[in-house]
Amino acid sequence: MRADDTSEAARAPEPAVEDAIVGDLRTAAYQAYVVGLKRYWSTELYAVVASQAAHVAEQPPREIEQAMSTSHAYRAFAWLEVHLQQMKYYGRWGLVTLFAEADDQLAGELAEGQKREPDKLANDVERPLPDYYVDTDFHQHRGGIWSDPSDAFAYEAAARSTTPVASDHGDLHSRFADHVRAITPADGVVLDMGCGFGKTTEPIRRAMPGATVVGVDLSPQVLGLAHLRAVQQGLDIRYVQDRQEDLVHFEDESVDTIAASMLIHEVPTDVLVQSLREAYRVLKPGGRLVYLDFYEVPGGNVGRFLILGHSTRNNEPFIRSLLAMDFHAEMAAAGFTDVATTSFEEEPDALARGTELPEFWRFPWTLLAGTKPATESAGTTRTADISVAS
Ligand SMILES: C[S@@+](CC[C@H](N)C(=O)[O-])C[C@H]1O[C@@H](n2cnc3c(N)ncnc32)[C@H](O)[C@@H]1O
Repeated sequence: MRADDTSEAARAPEPAVEDAIVGDLRTAAYQAYVVGLKRYWSTELYAVVASQAAHVAEQPPREIEQAMSTSHAYRAFAWLEVHLQQMKYYGRWGLVTLFAEADDQLAGELAEGQKREPDKLANDVERPLPDYYVDTDFHQHRGGIWSDPSDAFAYEAAARSTTPVASDHGDLHSRFADHVRAITPADGVVLDMGCGFGKTTEPIRRAMPGATVVGVDLSPQVLGLAHLRAVQQGLDIRYVQDRQEDLVHFEDESVDTIAASMLIHEVPTDVLVQSLREAYRVLKPGGRLVYLDFYEVPGGNVGRFLILGHSTRNNEPFIRSLLAMDFHAEMAAAGFTDVATTSFEEEPDALARGTELPEFWRFPWTLLAGTKPATESAGTTRTADISVAS
């Protein structure tokens, strides 16, 4: 290309740091190899394990685990479940490794984003993060997604290949957003709790142009990235650092719907119980609480054996406690009515086989929902320093 070339190609902007990292040919080839192995794990290897476990399906999950411990297929399955995640994150072309090397540049990107529309990002970095959050390396991500700017970007890049068998990665979140729209007044206030980098918040924003949409998360880094992405796309979303179990920035009876995707399996039961009470406080009478998470497990004991194994192997300890929790009873105790837990399709027709084990490895997606009765008023009162309507 000549130095005075003014064609479109010559004027093309430099790719963002994160795009350059994942676009590097060696990184892309290595990550594609890991995704290919994960696809093999999710389909062929899973099918062998599932068919072997079917012979002991009458036994409880712990005993299935013992019976399967001598199976070569299961040992390979379990080993790969741990190590594919580590391969994706670490080593020469691992995402966490590569993004950490660019931490300063990525911090610069977040800082630039924060300068644009600063009133739409309210980080509360003086407030300490809870122990259960900082002491657990969820998804085997060392140091979590809250320590450094690069952690948020690595998390965003890694999330693209969590479910390689699903045909359309963003579809689950879009259909959840459609559900949120269906249960919320068009001009209502929606909180996307545990919003991460905005995977559900953005489709809610797009689906509900007349609503006030607020993303809430514990991680200031992830919120900075969510804010940056919203600014880049011209999406009007406020992002606020807060805790689902102690929402100091939200007033009583100020929210129409609290939605959360993939959040509640990341907190211990006592924290989740407190979160239900806190949701009840901030919801308006008639307001709705809806989680998209793992609860109704298809495939009976074998299905539970597989998801409990995932909980251990991917370091997601609170999946186990969520599955053991009596959600209906805890919701009722918090004051909610119309409590329901309903299987939710990862993609259209994923649940076509009803309660049987799915054909491929799939998360047991469930809508867990309830309504704050229209007539009652919340018990405790709190004045917030940030109004969601501002
Ligand atoms: C698995 S991610 C899901 C992110 C996003 N909702 C999605 O569907 O991709 C869970 C998110 O919840 C946040 N989180 C965990 N505990 C929280 C809490 N107690 N209050 C608010 N956010 C929390 C984490 O920081 C993380 O961003």
